[in-house]
Amino acid sequence: MKNIALLGATGSIGEQTIDVIRQHKDQFSLFALAFGRNSQKAIPMIREFQPEIVVVGSEQVRNEVAEATGHASIFIGEEGMKAASTAAEVDVLVNAVMGSVGLPSTLAAIRAQKTIAIANKETLVTAGHIVMAEAEKYNTPLIPVDSEHSAIFQALNGERQEDVRRLIITASGGSFRDNSREELEGVTVRDALNHPNWSMGAKITIDSASMMNKGLEVIEAHWLFDMPYDKIHVLQHRESVIHSLVEFKDKSVMAQLGSPDMRVPIQYALTYPKRLSFDDTESLELEELSKLNFQKMDMERFRCLKLAFDAGRAGGSMPTVLNAANEQAVAMFLEEEISFLDIETLVEKSLQEHKSVSTPSLSDIMEIDKETRERVKRYVK
Ligand SMILES: NC(=O)c1ccc[n+]([C@@H]2O[C@H](COP(=O)([O-])OP(=O)(O)OC[C@H]3O[C@@H](n4cnc5c(N)ncnc54)[C@H](OP(=O)(O)O)[C@@H]3O)[C@@H](O)[C@H]2O)c1
Repeated sequence: MKNIALLGATGSIGEQTIDVIRQHKDQFSLFALAFGRNSQKAIPMIREFQPEIVVVGSEQVRNEVAEATGHASIFIGEEGMKAASTAAEVDVLVNAVMGSVGLPSTLAAIRAQKTIAIANKETLVTAGHIVMAEAEKYNTPLIPVDSEHSAIFQALNGERQEDVRRLIITASGGSFRDNSREELEGVTVRDALNHPNWSMGAKITIDSASMMNKGLEVIEAHWLFDMPYDKIHVLQHRESVIHSLVEFKDKSVMAQLGSPDMRVPIQYALTYPKRLSFDDTESLELEELSKLNFQKMDMERFRCLKLAFDAGRAGGSMPTVLNAANEQAVAMFLEEEISFLDIETLVEKSLQEHKSVSTPSLSDIMEIDKETRERVKRYVK
């Protein structure tokens, strides 16, 4: 029996993690659950799983949850998430919060030597050098949840790092894959939230439409697999059936395939190195697919992908700025305060005006993250 601490329980990955736990109640127990505001979703989860620790985003939400469930151990905010992630009883932390707010809990869990199933890619983008150094120091495993990184992790299983020629990350192309740049001028939030293959949280769906999500994944792959940027490629693949590939130096290519269902990589992250059966997902019947499509990525069309590669290569505090500017800009787009194309403009301007710090400390990162968000707000004003 593994005790799970789940951060971001009310989100898309969170709910799917709950579903995996529900299907294997003899294997997993939900020990701790954290979320921000959505008590309507969280209250039935708390009633069903009776977690020992509950963490919420505010005093008001704590009162709502306490009244509805009678739960005695409800904590608030960052300190609560860190306590939930490091409790002695916890075996695996699933970090599925959205944004760099997940960083302190990841670091705390690494130091407490908890296995971490990492969905929260912003943690690695904003502070990859610190997270990976701490993981190595404390010998803490980080198991990817993102389907692309799970695919690469599986393809690399048992292989030697020096035998890898390149990683190939696939990209569905997001909501606007068939639109020209001119056609992106007037797109609405509703258009952008209409992803062709995956049902995900709002921020990652917008990031998929702008291709920033792929850019964040490139930086995530750089850190998780210790791979230089020149060895990371992105390939457009509409069907999201091949989740990613690894080419080795003998030109042999290993790919991981499956029907698009995030519960599969989530479950694998919880069971690694074993596998459990999963009856509730579709088998991939290749004969039912008439063909699979592949296309070279156009870096001018998908400008955010280029910005992410550039920021990753520049290193230092540039990825922190990329991430913070993007989080702020996407939040403003979702509030209809800016247009879709303003997202890339604001990210680019923030990167251009930032004076990079070569090896930022955690406090530098927190400060730069905050400053960048403020700067983006000022640009918009
Ligand atoms: N969705 C996917 O298929 C997918 C795939 C691969 C990777 N990921 C990554 O997984 C992460 C989560 O994505 P998602 O799509 O599941 O996001 P989401 O649906 O927006 O859910 C985000 C979760 O984080 C919680 N949260 C946000 N801010 C918080 C705060 N300050 N304190 C505590 N909790 C907070 C939210 O709580 P409330 O809603 O209750 O406020 C919610 O439970 C992201 O890093 C994303 O890139 C997602």
